[in-house]
Amino acid sequence: MMKKPLWFAHRGFSGQYPENSPLAFQMAVEETHVDGIESDVHISKDGELVIMHDAEVDRTSNGSGFIKDYTYEELLQLDIGSWKSPEFAGQHIWNFDQLLDFCKETKVLLNMELKNYEVFYEGLEQRVIDAIVAHDMVDQVFVSSFNHISMQEFKRLYPDIKTGLLYDKPFLDIDKYIERSNADNMHPRYMLLQYQPELVQLYHDRGMKVNTWTVNDEENIRDMIQRGVDCIISNNADILCRVADEMCGE
Ligand code: G3P
Ligand code: MG
Repeated sequence: MMKKPLWFAHRGFSGQYPENSPLAFQMAVEETHVDGIESDVHISKDGELVIMHDAEVDRTSNGSGFIKDYTYEELLQLDIGSWKSPEFAGQHIWNFDQLLDFCKETKVLLNMELKNYEVFYEGLEQRVIDAIVAHDMVDQVFVSSFNHISMQEFKRLYPDIKTGLLYDKPFLDIDKYIERSNADNMHPRYMLLQYQPELVQLYHDRGMKVNTWTVNDEENIRDMIQRGVDCIISNNADILCRVADEMCGE
């Protein structure tokens, strides 16, 4: 049997349900046995931490425009289910507290991605820290971002929460780059580990976990397990669990 990585449902069970919706989170827990959920957070006009992938609501709701230009009350009016299929109409955006409550209650891990690379939300790091601490979930949540300056700041503000550097393109001298970082983990897009197979060992030698995404098909899930990654994030939590159980045992 291979080493068992952690399994994560990307934006909830987004392969089957509307991404980052309450239904997608519930179904990840009810219909699969993932260890955790990955999700994305922004800040509304009136300072609420809200759960959505894009900085704009257009793609995954019946509204249009930037999250930062809407109040939380306005965002609550949006339907975030029917874009996927009419049968999912009536899903409404969650705030970060609701997602934390859900993860606490269902005892799943949470990888919270700070979406601060298009809109640079002031104070997002401290707001996320305060919510995690208030829920007493420091050991149940780890964060990540494509904005590595944000992750540096996050770790400086609160060293007890694990941080990760997301990236989706090959770097020159990544070993030197990560020496300058205080991050705990690396979050590479999975094909980068196929392009540079030596990276898994390099990160492990530095004591960093390798949490990879978004691995949706059986062949690449198998490949990532064989490469010894620590966490696999997938839209298809059902396929992920089936393949992983087969290779690593339940
Ligand atoms: O956290 C992994 C993955 O979610 C990063 O990219 O664009 O799907 O949020 P994205
Ligand atoms: Mg994400």
